[in-house]
Amino acid sequence: MFQKGLKDVVAVHTKIASVEGDIGELRYRGVQVGELITNHSFEEIAHFLWNEKLPERNESYTLQEGRELPAHVKTIIDALPPETPIMDAMRTAISAYAHNEFTNEPIEQQARHLTVALPTIIARHYRNVNGLPVIEPDPALSHTANYLWMLTGTKPADVHVEALETYLKLTMEHGMNASTFAARVTISTESDLTAAVTSALGTMKGPLHGGAPSAVIELLEEIGTEENIRPVILNKLQNGERIMGFGHRIYKTEDPRSILLRDKCAELTGKDNWLDLATTAEKEIIALLEEYKPGRKLYTNVEYYAAAIMRAIQMPPELFTPTFSVARMVGWTAHAIEQLSDNTIFRPQSVYVGKKFEI
Ligand SMILES: CC(C)(COP(=O)(O)OP(=O)(O)OC[C@H]1O[C@@H](n2cnc3c(N)ncnc32)[C@H](O)[C@@H]1OP(=O)(O)O)[C@@H](O)C(=O)NCCC(=O)NCCS
Repeated sequence: MFQKGLKDVVAVHTKIASVEGDIGELRYRGVQVGELITNHSFEEIAHFLWNEKLPERNESYTLQEGRELPAHVKTIIDALPPETPIMDAMRTAISAYAHNEFTNEPIEQQARHLTVALPTIIARHYRNVNGLPVIEPDPALSHTANYLWMLTGTKPADVHVEALETYLKLTMEHGMNASTFAARVTISTESDLTAAVTSALGTMKGPLHGGAPSAVIELLEEIGTEENIRPVILNKLQNGERIMGFGHRIYKTEDPRSILLRDKCAELTGKDNWLDLATTAEKEIIALLEEYKPGRKLYTNVEYYAAAIMRAIQMPPELFTPTFSVARMVGWTAHAIEQLSDNTIFRPQSVYVGKKFEI
């Protein structure tokens, strides 16, 4: 059987997350994601994804150890040319974790350390290329707050931390997406966790996966006013263009993450012209897509309101995909651990369709 892009092929049985596209439901380890994000921190949900249980109520579970990068990793980051894209810097720095001392740690501890290290790597390279002094991690801050602190050098407002944390919690894990699959393929050779995550970061870089909330921001800037929604969208559809932030391979109804992010945005910004335009545009665009692409079931995806969150907290566009990776590191490592618990090397077949020659 040949299935291009392995579309619809079941490659893995997992107990980490279920994504039900028809009913718009995402569960982490059996629990609705909406319930988890309301009641638990990023740290607690990470613990849940890795260990199949939430931390005990009286246990304060933090992601702190490992925020300080090893000296050789700092040296590598500081030696990178300033034009190095952040995703490349992340891949290079994370790859440098594969040394004896690190790979001999228990795999769950490696997963925690890689998750904790990624924000420090991003912030160090980001500040280096912008000619800003590096900000050391603050042990008093949560994982999310510390990320914002290291990027900006100012103590982040609680509402900004909460908005970003909502986004991070909603994007930690999403089944067999390309980067998670890459992580599982790599670890299935019994290489190591660092190699698996390095593969995942390389996969995440591509525009077909890493997502582009920035394209949604550009779309809304182009629309500008409510009267322009219809003409701008119609023009795009008539030219065969895709509307950014709409449609999903799995979800054929509203993406549950999009709904939760929309609610968080409304809470965060209160009365805001840009958000008003985004919510009005959403309704009109869904109706226009149904008119022009009947039966395709095109609704807003996670990128649409991720764009609104990123804009509200003033996250620079070049940090959108790196920030997505900060969240997804938890999913990658949880999947790699699960793969090793019942491993078979991934080795599909290929069919040679070229000519055969005598020379
Ligand atoms: C996300 C995406 C790649 C999923 O694609 P998919 O499930 O493989 O769907 P297909 O590419 O097979 O598209 C199915 C049909 O819907 C149309 N369609 C899908 N997304 C569309 C969009 N955003 N705008 C307009 N039409 C769209 C396609 O043109 C196609 O129409 P056709 O049947 O006339 O050829 C796709 O919806 C897309 O490109 N969206 C815009 C980019 C985006 O928001 N990406 C972030 C994803 S989280």
